[in-house]
Amino acid sequence: MDDGLVKKIRRKGTVTSAFGTPGRINHDSSKFYNSRLYEGLETEKRVDYIENQLNPSVLNKILCKSSVKMDELPDNSIHMMVTSPPYNVGKVYDRNLSLGEYRLLLKAVFSEVHRVLVPGGRACVNVANLGRKPYIPLHSYIIEDMLDIGYLMRGEIIWNKASSASPSTAWGSWLSAANPTLRDIHEYILVFCKQTFTRKTPTLRQNTISKNEFLEFSKSVWTFPAESARKVGHPAPFPIELPYRLIQFYTFKDEVILDPFVGSGSTCIAALKAKRFYVGYDIDKRYVDLAEDRIKEFPQLNSSTTFENMDQSNLKQGHSFLRENEVAYRKKIKPKAKNIKHKGMGNKKKK
Ligand SMILES: C[S@@+](CC[C@H](N)C(=O)[O-])C[C@H]1O[C@@H](n2cnc3c(N)ncnc32)[C@H](O)[C@@H]1O
Repeated sequence: MDDGLVKKIRRKGTVTSAFGTPGRINHDSSKFYNSRLYEGLETEKRVDYIENQLNPSVLNKILCKSSVKMDELPDNSIHMMVTSPPYNVGKVYDRNLSLGEYRLLLKAVFSEVHRVLVPGGRACVNVANLGRKPYIPLHSYIIEDMLDIGYLMRGEIIWNKASSASPSTAWGSWLSAANPTLRDIHEYILVFCKQTFTRKTPTLRQNTISKNEFLEFSKSVWTFPAESARKVGHPAPFPIELPYRLIQFYTFKDEVILDPFVGSGSTCIAALKAKRFYVGYDIDKRYVDLAEDRIKEFPQLNSSTTFENMDQSNLKQGHSFLRENEVAYRKKIKPKAKNIKHKGMGNKKKK
């Protein structure tokens, strides 16, 4: 594009065009959003920002119970959920539910998550589809149910596991059009939010994402290897990279990340790595123990770079630095009233 045209577009800004546009500069998309395509669709609401304080006793804890009821968590107290639900495919923790019962279980948990998320809080669901005859598009059912609960959808990420996908030989009919089958080398990460698309905060909060991470994580296809179930000791762990990217992209430092199906604790480790807090739930005590062991072993726990001001003497006391950070966290966000209501507060850029 020549400089003259760029300057002209910059001055005027682009608008949604019937034939697309060469770029998006000061783009005015009102024509698109006012079109009949959006008629009847749930859109964002004007809501006050509310952030209730979590009881410190659940901060950086994994609770061994079903996440269908998370009574320990007040409404509007969690900044993001990252999870991968049980797949109901006969793994040791699966309960052989019918598709209808399975959807009801996930819907109950994700409704509870909706209650505890702050306005604008994000919910990210990692899911793979199942079977072939016929193919069960779980991701599509989950989208339907999340919209039904009242979530707004922000987008979906295709996780390309190609480099690590097991060399499946389920070809169907080899070299024949009779009944060839697709060999999935991808999973989905479905991204939703509560009530509004923009996150507000009661106090100035820090972004921790680097420019290179932002350029990479804002793409809708992510490529990195899967995690080895055998190595981790859980039937279906996701790699720490998955929650780490979501946490960096969608939350601020020191915020609280929830995983209602925590398994081996990958989300918790990613939260610590990104200097956030976590709360996890799992019904199976063995996985709670496994997650706690993995968190303890997480290399950064033994590195003074995990939290900038960590005292070396705390290293010997295992998790004591977490308690210190909990105290700092409480001091930092402890509201005077029972909850904080902030009208129209945004985030100022960190200078
Ligand atoms: C797919 S795994 C999660 C794996 C996890 N992302 C990781 O990296 O290890 C699902 C987990 O949900 C747990 N689970 C199943 N039903 C549950 C429920 N109602 N409440 C809490 N956890 C549940 C299972 O025990 C299992 O560990």
